[in-house]
Amino acid sequence: MARQAGAANADFGAHADGHRFTLDDRLPADHLANALRSDVVEGLTASPKSLPPKWFYDARGSELFEEITLLPEYYPTRAEQQILTRRAPEIAALTRAMTLFELGSGSSRKTRLLLDALTAAGTLACYAPLDVSPSALEQAGAALIRDYPGLRVAATVTDFEGDLSLPPRAPGPRLVAFLGSTIGNFDAEQRHSFFTALRHTLSADDVLLLGADLVKDREVLVRAYDDSQGVTAEFNRNVLNVLNRELDADFDPDAFEHVALWNEEDERIEMHLRSRTAQSVKLPALGLSVDFEEGERMRTEISVKFRRDSLTEELGRAGFTVRHWWTDEENRFALLLAVPSR
Ligand code: SAH
Ligand code: TRP
Repeated sequence: MARQAGAANADFGAHADGHRFTLDDRLPADHLANALRSDVVEGLTASPKSLPPKWFYDARGSELFEEITLLPEYYPTRAEQQILTRRAPEIAALTRAMTLFELGSGSSRKTRLLLDALTAAGTLACYAPLDVSPSALEQAGAALIRDYPGLRVAATVTDFEGDLSLPPRAPGPRLVAFLGSTIGNFDAEQRHSFFTALRHTLSADDVLLLGADLVKDREVLVRAYDDSQGVTAEFNRNVLNVLNRELDADFDPDAFEHVALWNEEDERIEMHLRSRTAQSVKLPALGLSVDFEEGERMRTEISVKFRRDSLTEELGRAGFTVRHWWTDEENRFALLLAVPSR
């Protein structure tokens, strides 16, 4: 993962044209080495085995996720896009945001609906995307400064699980968007820590805009995570390529089958990689050799689906009050606006 050196400290002030895009890399140089190592040791020596999902998003992973968003079966992107198209002007009027933060911004494609509305409202000064993928931020940033001539883009490479401190010099009111139901990739405990940490970085007039996929028919859900073209399967297996490259492991991705299943009790989709045969995988960088039984599953991702009452309550416990709840026409996906509770 080659990274371009960014400004040591993101500067949210006015910038001469040509310097409207900055990339602040807040991940320590040994992040890949250390964090990936400890995650992998922990996950692969546990029973059942698992791998943490943020390692999906190397340059190829970010590209594959973009392909997923275009699949006929993957409805969440289109459903959220439909809500944003309809509600962005209202969101701009309600928030009058000067800075738009976005967590896990990826390609920032849907974000353009918010940028358009906030630009039209005349309040927006800066867009600050945060993502663990430097390649996604670089591509998105280059396209945005080309298409939004007055916009300042201050991107940050970081892991929002460990580091949520939003740059304090960003002018308020600030709108923090967390789209794509990425919140569903956290379990209940992680969501509580995340919402609580986020609440503590916000001021009284800041606002959270959260996209959440909703509980629905299991067939529709499973198909969204097991598409007929096999793009999601390739995305899932790509995490093994990351381990091969970064840890010198010898996973054969073809020896693992993509599995997406609906966990009824926890109301979540689970992505697994199932070993097609009994095999042993070497991870010399970790001094580890890991045995898989034939048919053994390793969990790579969860995608929790939400209900209005329980999500509102969860946010309440972390100090947020839900002010608006919007859904698409088919009630598949929700976009909510929440403010710090008084
Ligand atoms: N918001 C976009 C992309 C969603 S995919 C959309 O709605 O389409 C999830 C994004 O979150 C990816 O770009 C991934 O790189 C990023 N991401 C995942 N885990 C992360 C973490 N722990 N810290 C920062 N970014 C993360
Ligand atoms: N946040 C997305 C979701 O839960 C991420 C995602 C979509 C994903 N498809 C995936 C993650 C397949 C892993 C594998 O919908």
